[in-house]
Amino acid sequence: MDRHIVTVFGGTGFVGRHIVKRLLERDFIVRVPTRSFERVKKLKPMGYLGQVVPVYCDVRDEESIKDAIGDSEVVINLLGVLYERGSNTFVNVHVKAAKRIAEEAKACGVKTLLHMSALGVDKNPSSNYATSKLAGENAVREAFADAVIFRPSVVFGQNDNFLNKFATLARFSPLLPVIGAPGLPKVDLGEGKIDILGDGGPKFQPVYVGDVADAFVAAISNTKSPGKTYELGGPETYSFMGLLRDMLRITRQSAILVPVPFWLASIKAFFLQFLPVPPLTPDQVRLLKTDNVVSEGSNGFAELGITPNSLEAVAPAYLKRFCPPRKSGEFRRFV
Ligand SMILES: NC(=O)c1ccc[n+]([C@@H]2O[C@H](COP(=O)([O-])OP(=O)(O)OC[C@H]3O[C@@H](n4cnc5c(N)ncnc54)[C@H](OP(=O)(O)O)[C@@H]3O)[C@@H](O)[C@H]2O)c1
Repeated sequence: MDRHIVTVFGGTGFVGRHIVKRLLERDFIVRVPTRSFERVKKLKPMGYLGQVVPVYCDVRDEESIKDAIGDSEVVINLLGVLYERGSNTFVNVHVKAAKRIAEEAKACGVKTLLHMSALGVDKNPSSNYATSKLAGENAVREAFADAVIFRPSVVFGQNDNFLNKFATLARFSPLLPVIGAPGLPKVDLGEGKIDILGDGGPKFQPVYVGDVADAFVAAISNTKSPGKTYELGGPETYSFMGLLRDMLRITRQSAILVPVPFWLASIKAFFLQFLPVPPLTPDQVRLLKTDNVVSEGSNGFAELGITPNSLEAVAPAYLKRFCPPRKSGEFRRFV
């Protein structure tokens, strides 16, 4: 029996690993173009021998992309950067590489192209991340009109770079910054814990990485998907402060949530952007100036027949490692 080949650019990343896993479970042969074979090694045990095929690829070079795509039936592009370093600029990765992949996919006769963008890219002209992602979408559509585009809100799950980052920070710092939240926090010292009441900051609709992966796989066989853009948000909307408050509750940690106005965050980000892996950049601060929620009337999970999981249902399992040990042991509540 012929196995279908799916090429996944960005398959070694956080979202990529989950999409590759889903594809392997569905018996696809998954080709992973990469700059580092070392990173693809981690994907191999998810499939049977030879099911994950690493291919060396330089996304600046058309020939290299063409060789990677070859006889694939489906191409998925998840390439993305959150900050710029050297030649890894927003324009190079989000626009130029995306355009090349879409053009080569078309030239190779690929049936389905799935392209990863981000929620709100059409609403934030001040962020270079957002404008480059939007330009990438346009370039992809121009080269491959039937491409399916996905715009997720902030993605959470095992090894995410959001809840894990703040949960780690809460371990070491008594203060957590809530960028863009207005006003002063109200402190509730009930039960010996410091908690903050009230909401604030930009709004998010966190979406579970497993649901994003399901959406990609569903779009491969959904005859209504070609040419569509799907906005992917979880079942609940949180303010930045509400989200951090929930993370603290789930991990049973304490911290003071400190509203940080945009101007102050921009100054901090200016200095932090020079760190090797910057925790915050001025462009990310600009990105936070608009809410990150699904637009009314957009296509989403429902059109793909998927019911997204809530953060409450998924996050406790992988954030458990941040919980301080209970004095009377983990089974206290059962006895
Ligand atoms: N995570 C989120 O909350 C979120 C939300 C909305 C949209 N998105 C989008 O979803 C996509 C995946 O995000 P992620 O969180 O999985 O990011 P990630 O973990 O940083 O993965 C990014 C992937 O892109 C690859 N890549 C970056 N620059 C490259 C280059 N110049 N040449 C070749 N490969 C390159 C990386 O390859 P290496 O392994 O070789 O570095 C990696 O596989 C991105 O497009 C991102 O913008 C993510």
